[in-house]
Amino acid sequence: MSDERLLVLGAGTMGSQIAQQAALCGVEVDLVDISTDQLARAVEQNRRLLESRVTKGRLEAADAEAALARVTTSDDLPASASRCDWAVEAVLEQLEPKRTAFAELDRHLPAHAGIATNSSNIVSSRLADATSRPELCCNMHFFHPVLVMDVCEVVRGPHTSEETARRAVEWSRRMGRAPVLIEKEIDGFVVNRILGAASREAFSLLAAGVASPADIDAAARLGLNWRMGPFQLADFSGLDTVHDVRRDRYEKSGAPGDLETVEVLAQLIAEGRRGRKSGRGFYDYSTDPPSPLPVPGID
Ligand SMILES: NC(=O)c1ccc[n+]([C@@H]2O[C@H](COP(=O)([O-])OP(=O)(O)OC[C@H]3O[C@@H](n4cnc5c(N)ncnc54)[C@H](O)[C@@H]3O)[C@@H](O)[C@H]2O)c1
Repeated sequence: MSDERLLVLGAGTMGSQIAQQAALCGVEVDLVDISTDQLARAVEQNRRLLESRVTKGRLEAADAEAALARVTTSDDLPASASRCDWAVEAVLEQLEPKRTAFAELDRHLPAHAGIATNSSNIVSSRLADATSRPELCCNMHFFHPVLVMDVCEVVRGPHTSEETARRAVEWSRRMGRAPVLIEKEIDGFVVNRILGAASREAFSLLAAGVASPADIDAAARLGLNWRMGPFQLADFSGLDTVHDVRRDRYEKSGAPGDLETVEVLAQLIAEGRRGRKSGRGFYDYSTDPPSPLPVPGID
C-alpha cells in the first residue's frame, strides 16, 4: 500500500502550516478549503514564514521554493482526495462540520486512505461513524505554530486499528514531528492535561494571593525550565480561548481550581484584556519587555 500523498482539509491557522510542514519534509500535499480567499492567504503566509527562515540563514532559498511548490491548493475536494493516501482534517472546531468533513473525505478518498482529525477536543470516535472506514480513523493533534512545535499526539480510539495507529505514527515522523501515541481517548489528551493541571495550580496560587503572575511565571521558567510561565502562555494562546476551554473543563470537573481560573479570566476579558492579540492580558505588550499588569480583585 502506498503512503505518499497527503491531503489537508482546512487551510486556516493549523491546516496551512500542517501542509507546509509536511512539504518541508518532502511530502507532496493537497491543501483543500472551501474558501479560495483563505487558500490564497495560506499560500501567502507560508511564503512569508519560509522567506523569513531564508533571511535568517536557516533554510536554502531553493529548498523554500521546492517546499512551497509541493503544496497544491484547491477547493475541489473530490479531485484532490481521489489521489491521496492519508488525510488530516483541520476544519473549524465544531462537531457537525467535522462529521460532514469526515463523510466527504470517506466518499472521495481511496479505500486504503486513513483519516485523522487535528481536533484538540473532539475524539475521533465521535467522527469515525460518519465514515465507512472507522478502523482507518484517529486523531493527529499538532500544536500551534506547527512549523515550530515538534510534537504530534496520535490518539487511538477503540475503533482505530493497530495498523492505522502505526501509519499515523509513521506519517507524523515523515512530517518531521515527534509522535506520542496515546492509547485511550481522554479529555485533553496528554499535553493539555499536564498543562491544565499546572495552569490550574498557578491560578489557585494567584487567587490565594501567594505570588503575582510575574513571579509565578519566573518560578516556572527558572525552576522548571519552561520557555514561558503559565500566565505568559495564557496571554500567548488568547485569554478568551483559554477561558472557554477552562469553562468547559469546569463544567465537567467541578474542580475549584478550574472555577478560580474562569473567574480571574472573565474579569480580565471584561476589561478588554485578551492577551497578546489585544495588546494587554496579564502583561502589557506595548513595552519591551512586556510589563506586568495588576489583576483585578487580587492584592
Ligand atoms: N488554533 C490552534 O491553536 C489549534 C491547535 C491545535 C488544534 N487545533 C484544531 O485545529 C482545527 C482547525 O483550527 P484552526 O485554528 O486552524 O481554525 P481556523 O478557523 O483558522 O481554520 C479553519 C478552516 O477550515 C475551513 N473550512 C471550514 N469548513 C470547511 C470544509 N467543510 N471544507 C474545507 N474547509 C473548511 C475554513 O474556511 C478555515 O479556513 C480545529 O479542530 C482546532 O481545534 C487548533
